[in-house]
Amino acid sequence: MNKLVSPSMLSANFLHLESDINMINESTADWFHLDVMDGMYVPNISFGMPIIEHINKLAKKPLDVHLMIEKPERYIADFKKVGADILTVHIEASTHLHRTLQAIRAEGMKAGIALNPHTNVLQVEDVLEEADMILIMSVNPGFGGQKFIPQALNRIEKLRNMIEKAGTKTMIQVDGGVTNANAADLYNAGANCLVAGSYVFKSPDPKEAIKRLKK
Ligand code: DX5
Ligand code: ZN
Repeated sequence: MNKLVSPSMLSANFLHLESDINMINESTADWFHLDVMDGMYVPNISFGMPIIEHINKLAKKPLDVHLMIEKPERYIADFKKVGADILTVHIEASTHLHRTLQAIRAEGMKAGIALNPHTNVLQVEDVLEEADMILIMSVNPGFGGQKFIPQALNRIEKLRNMIEKAGTKTMIQVDGGVTNANAADLYNAGANCLVAGSYVFKSPDPKEAIKRLKK
């Protein structure tokens, strides 16, 4: 199974965004993880389309956009326009999830579904065909630098079994509190993509940190 790493730009230095983007371009990272927060779905506001549009101008790797916003279906075409390649919405935030996933794919993007720590992974069973990726939150969404919730490991295993039974190619991404201390366990449990913010950007050698996450 492949091991992808998607560094979260939430922890980047926004005064020197260009150098952090170049660092990721030159690193072994696979995607750019971009966290969009609206202050409603989560108690924090991050950044939106203009910032993503700028990142897209320099980024040489796919943009993995994680929407922590209410009714994400309102902005699917807008995120495509600014360069999103993968668009992930929270199951708890989109009433007609099936339609939302179809609309994301119709725009030519990969569709992801994010699940909060309290959301039963069985809830995605009937939409696995419509999803390219399931994002297991291993913290409560809204902030970088939080502590990993260990139950995520069982949830990933449960989801991996479900995907194998269904025979779909759905990827499993994990987001929140990921470090080299839990990376191997996460891959072993069945994850194929790790998101890491503070672990990468607070490291004295971010490229090395990214490499460690891929081992
Ligand atoms: C949290 C975001 C994460 C965040 C992860 O709501 O979805 O992507 O940036 O940050 P760390 O890796 O520091 O937990
Ligand atoms: Zn995220």
